Amino acid sequence: MADRQGSCCRKCELIRHTARQTLPGRQGLMFSVGRKVIVMSEKADRPVFLSGERLSLRPLEESDLERCRRWLNNPEARRFLKRRYPLDAVEEAEWFRSRDRSSDILLAIVLKDGERHIGNIGLHRIDWPHRCAQTGMIIGEADCRGQGLGHEAKELLLGYAFTDLGLHRVGSSVIDGNTPSIRCLLKSGYREEGRRRKRWWHEGRFVDEVEFGLLAEEWFLRPASET
Ligand SMILES: CC(C)(COP(=O)(O)OP(=O)(O)OC[C@H]1O[C@@H](n2cnc3c(N)ncnc32)[C@H](O)[C@@H]1OP(=O)(O)O)[C@@H](O)C(=O)NCCC(=O)NCCS
Repeated sequence: MADRQGSCCRKCELIRHTARQTLPGRQGLMFSVGRKVIVMSEKADRPVFLSGERLSLRPLEESDLERCRRWLNNPEARRFLKRRYPLDAVEEAEWFRSRDRSSDILLAIVLKDGERHIGNIGLHRIDWPHRCAQTGMIIGEADCRGQGLGHEAKELLLGYAFTDLGLHRVGSSVIDGNTPSIRCLLKSGYREEGRRRKRWWHEGRFVDEVEFGLLAEEWFLRPASET
């Protein structure tokens, strides 16, 4: 008899609990207990916060950090990130624990099909009196870029920012030349607002930082064809 969802007895639950403690983030692993097969289901452990067509957004957990560190150290993924130093486990854990949750909302981007964690997205530096925030995103898994998943994740986040949180404006700044990021922002209705000239040393030369912004009224009045 296969036990794929819940635990049928205390022994199964104990094994599942032990696996969660010792193998965080290893959802999908299978264990045999006598004639039973236990599957570590991410669904059982990880609450969905926002749900879209192909992906969902859920709170980022400490058990995700190793994967995030792999992305943030990867030369291709970090090519257009502003951070230039290697990220180690201690620094990452300190950052994660000391984040101000009221002004920094961080969500894991997860494929619905298979629950694979492919990237992160967030609202950062939320300024509640002025109802503004900065958005940021990484699709860390290279094989998942360029398939519209970043756009879908951004649309979910923007709906939450403007509708649920009542934010009035979101902004994002990009290193000039990051075409996927710029196209992703323009596709969601952000407008270019200005440039900081030669702000970033990038691949042997100084390049501009490009500032983008999107207002709540622009988001709500977008033609249906742009959603
Ligand atoms: C930027 C990023 C989040 C975009 O996510 P994505 O899932 O790859 O993007 P999407 O597939 O949703 O595509 C969004 C738009 O970008 C375009 N695009 C995607 N990849 C592209 C590429 N390599 N070259 C040109 N355009 C590209 C798409 O065509 C689409 O625009 P269009 O519909 O007008 O044609 C992702 O590429 C990424 O994480 N990159 C590395 C980290 C990074 O640079 N983050 C941003 C820091 S500011």
